[in-house]
Amino acid sequence: MSQDAGTDSGSDDTTGAAGDYRALVRSSLDDPEGFWGAAAQELTWIHPPKTVLKDRAPFYDWFPDGVLNVCYNALDRHVIDGRADQLALIYDSPVTGTQRSYTYAELLDEVARFAGVLRDLGVSKGDRVVVYLPMIPEAVITMLACARIGAVHSVVFGGFAPAELAARIEDAEPVVVVSASCGVEPTRVVEYKPMLDEALRRSSHQPQHCVIVQREQALAELGETDLEWSQLMRPGAIAPAECVKILATDPLYVLYTSGTTGKPKGIVRDSGGYAVALRWSMSNLYDVQPGETWFCGSDVGWVVGHSYIVYAPLLTGATTILYEGKPVGTPDAGAYWRLIQDYGAVAAFTAPTAIRAIKKVDPDAALLAGYDTSSLRTLFLAGERLDPDTWEWATQALGVPVVDNWWQTETGWPITINPVGITLLPIKPGSSGPATVGYDVQVLDPSGQPTEPGVEGAICIRQPLPPGTLPTLWRDDERYVSSYLSAFPGYYLTGDGGYVDEDGYVFVMGRTDDVLNVAGHRLSTGSLEEALAGHPSVAECAVIGIRDALKGQVPRALVVLKAGIQLDEAGTAALQAELVDRVRAEVGAVAALRQVDVVDGLPKTRSGKILRKTMRQIADGDEAVVPSTIEDVSVLDGLRGVLSGPDRSS
Ligand code: COA
Ligand code: AMP
Repeated sequence: MSQDAGTDSGSDDTTGAAGDYRALVRSSLDDPEGFWGAAAQELTWIHPPKTVLKDRAPFYDWFPDGVLNVCYNALDRHVIDGRADQLALIYDSPVTGTQRSYTYAELLDEVARFAGVLRDLGVSKGDRVVVYLPMIPEAVITMLACARIGAVHSVVFGGFAPAELAARIEDAEPVVVVSASCGVEPTRVVEYKPMLDEALRRSSHQPQHCVIVQREQALAELGETDLEWSQLMRPGAIAPAECVKILATDPLYVLYTSGTTGKPKGIVRDSGGYAVALRWSMSNLYDVQPGETWFCGSDVGWVVGHSYIVYAPLLTGATTILYEGKPVGTPDAGAYWRLIQDYGAVAAFTAPTAIRAIKKVDPDAALLAGYDTSSLRTLFLAGERLDPDTWEWATQALGVPVVDNWWQTETGWPITINPVGITLLPIKPGSSGPATVGYDVQVLDPSGQPTEPGVEGAICIRQPLPPGTLPTLWRDDERYVSSYLSAFPGYYLTGDGGYVDEDGYVFVMGRTDDVLNVAGHRLSTGSLEEALAGHPSVAECAVIGIRDALKGQVPRALVVLKAGIQLDEAGTAALQAELVDRVRAEVGAVAALRQVDVVDGLPKTRSGKILRKTMRQIADGDEAVVPSTIEDVSVLDGLRGVLSGPDRSS
């Protein structure tokens, strides 16, 4: 493969690699049955699908009569095929000083036994298991154990606070919750068990049991219905569970993600379509082949972690690295380079913010010189916009292609990417690449017409979406349709705005709704606003995401006090601190809210919609679009000084 990672000149290559790839994408859209039917043959099926795609527009089912087991495809079949002694999972934890690895045979043994534990606790096919765990092997084991017995896992990111966890428990109604005594952050031990207990106090649904992984950094006090992982898994205590038969359309997991309201959306992931898409993507998009090692620096609580720490590498028979640490500070900005060297990773995947963090601490990439990263073929970045400066820095430092890819919890795998495993197309900094095989990406204007190349609009995907993408929302078809399909019938609305250039490269410019993206973490303005509004002094509030050099975006809050409340400077400062603490306690530390301003009023339209976008544009120093429907322009004018004032957010 060419190592020329330079900028593209903008050539209109309709022949050669670009033309061939465009033809492949076209064929996947014209003949989805043929394309995905062939891709499905990479998996082992109990009953191979006779039907590839069932159209129940606006719903679509992939491989509706196929029967398989995803865990079997991720573990058992590799053991049978001669990979028993190959490493499946490498756990590397600088925050606890631990390194541990599992061969495919060893991981299968752990998973089958934990599946037996879940079965004996009464978990059966279709039941939910909520997983609230840090980046430890037990998280991967639990996810696969659920897949083995057909239980639906729902992993909740460890950085979320009790209220967020409670909302997910209420909605998913798990039979069992699997958690740990603590997570280990670089500067502190985060006790998970008290947060779980608080979440259960807030939830009307109660699981039958909580299984707790006791970690020596902070042991948890166990209650009556709590069980200890190591006790349940002690040698000889449990009969392993076999794989059960799963319909391809049965849910593998539900992963909650942020919308604009405070109520998270339960993204449903099916089993067969997801496994087919991920297996295909690992070799064809990420250029990782069976037997190779790959490092994905994300978290199992996010979709990137689900797809590319756990399922895709294991479905491929590759070795995956589970890293409990940060890109910087554990112990330094060479941490990722060490992982690549020590385990011979052929490719790595993380968020741009991680690279910006490394660049900030080690601007000349001096630490990189101390490591042999010659195994690395590609660096992939996703989760937020990859700014050209960060792309340039990483490209220069590593000397390998640095490949942006754009996707969302909803899609499960990339909507756009440079398909490195098929061919490395020219890279255009600022673009996340051309549409991926299976995705008919269209940029629409407000009337639903496709825009001309280079003209911004709402980025949409024409239905049917490819396998692996969300079939619906958990127990809420109606919300699925109203959130994603009603704006432009026949199209899935991504919620991102941007444009496509004349070569078919997509440029994603940011969300068109009020979803925040803080250090690659997707958060809802609604959750933060709910936390603020719960304070007795707050009459109303708005949260906006403003540009940040390290985290991409950070939240900023504007609050209006209840009538009659007058605060002096010290009182205001105390309230601001209380509100920051409140968001941390209710939403989680990852929300990273630092700046709260007390204001006299919030600008609204005549129908009462708060003009968050306009405020964001003013705060970012961009040209602000003031809608003609504004109720009282003087309120906005009164805020201009506050919004464009000093950024105290970091
Ligand atoms: N459990 C508990 N707390 C967590 C947590 C977890 N799993 N993850 C983060 N937090 C806490 C952090 O300790 C921090 O707390 P603090 O305010 O007390 O310091 C807070 O949440 C914010 O964390 P983070 O967003 O990680 O910011 P940071 O300033 O500590 O680090 C980066 C900045 C760029 C190094 C970090 O965001 C990072 O590694 N990002 C990678 C991006 C990524 O993995 N994205 C996933 C999508 S691909
Ligand atoms: P999540 O569902 O948490 O993965 O967040 C998805 C959102 O993150 C998308 O809708 C985008 O707004 C943003 N995003 C993810 N990847 C990219 C990318 N490569 N470029 C621009 N934005 C991105």
